[in-house]
Amino acid sequence: MTPTQGTFARVSFDFAGTSVLVTGGTKGIGHAIATAFVAAGAEVTITGSAAAASAYADLPAGVAYRQLRLTERADIARLAQSQARLDVLVNNAGGTGGAATPYDFDTAVSVNLGAVYHLTGALAEALGASTLEGGAAVVNLASEMSLFASPYFAGYGAAKAGIVQLTRTFCAQLAPRVRVNAVLPGSVPTPMTNAFAEDPGVHAMVSNATPLGRWGAPQEIAGAVLFLASPAASFVSGHTLVVDGGYSILK
Ligand SMILES: NC(=O)c1ccc[n+]([C@@H]2O[C@H](COP(=O)([O-])OP(=O)(O)OC[C@H]3O[C@@H](n4cnc5c(N)ncnc54)[C@H](OP(=O)(O)O)[C@@H]3O)[C@@H](O)[C@H]2O)c1
Repeated sequence: MTPTQGTFARVSFDFAGTSVLVTGGTKGIGHAIATAFVAAGAEVTITGSAAAASAYADLPAGVAYRQLRLTERADIARLAQSQARLDVLVNNAGGTGGAATPYDFDTAVSVNLGAVYHLTGALAEALGASTLEGGAAVVNLASEMSLFASPYFAGYGAAKAGIVQLTRTFCAQLAPRVRVNAVLPGSVPTPMTNAFAEDPGVHAMVSNATPLGRWGAPQEIAGAVLFLASPAASFVSGHTLVVDGGYSILK
């Protein structure tokens, strides 16, 4: 059974008074993460590539919006300056550039790895000053392509493998005040993956290769992110939590 909203019927998190930044919260997994943090009482800022929130038809309710073009260092610096107080950073924004015209290698690495390095570094001081119970938290979004090779998306795969190692590096660097973990999602239907999710053959192939027999829901990735950011994970740092219905076990 999959959750249908950004909240969890029998599980509750309390992030009241917590300042949370979710990059790429305009749609897909980031939208679900931001929605779940809002439902848990957090003050949430999301980012997207557009200059203003008005560019989006369906942003999560109750969030502030900031522009962050992942390849623009000036955007990263401006965003970091605007976040004087921060308890939780979710480095979610990223992507392949599209199945038809994937990013070139350098752009893919800049979008999916460089931006995470630079933004986390720029926000390290604010996170270090957090008094969040269990420690301030950074959660990075990895990918099945952190683990498995693909003849496509060379830059995306290299960057997502790098996210796992960068998570460990920042764990060591920012300890003990900041915990740094990663979530590694399996296949989740979002605007990034819809072309695959809506192809009946690909949809069935993924479901059949997954012990739980289906694709994941964005809310199921959000659940793992909120857990890692919560005091329930206060002794968890440097870890990559695979949330894929068991797919990688049989691969
Ligand atoms: N969906 C999956 O099955 C899956 C599996 C493994 C890992 N992931 C990872 O999970 C994260 C979220 O993926 P998703 O499927 O939710 O993707 P999505 O639906 O395409 O959403 C991507 C988000 O990132 C932002 N973004 C992408 N490229 C950007 C850029 N160059 N500059 C600024 N913002 C940018 C988008 O902003 P705009 O709306 O402004 O474009 C959007 O908010 C990604 O890191 C992805 O690699 C996803």
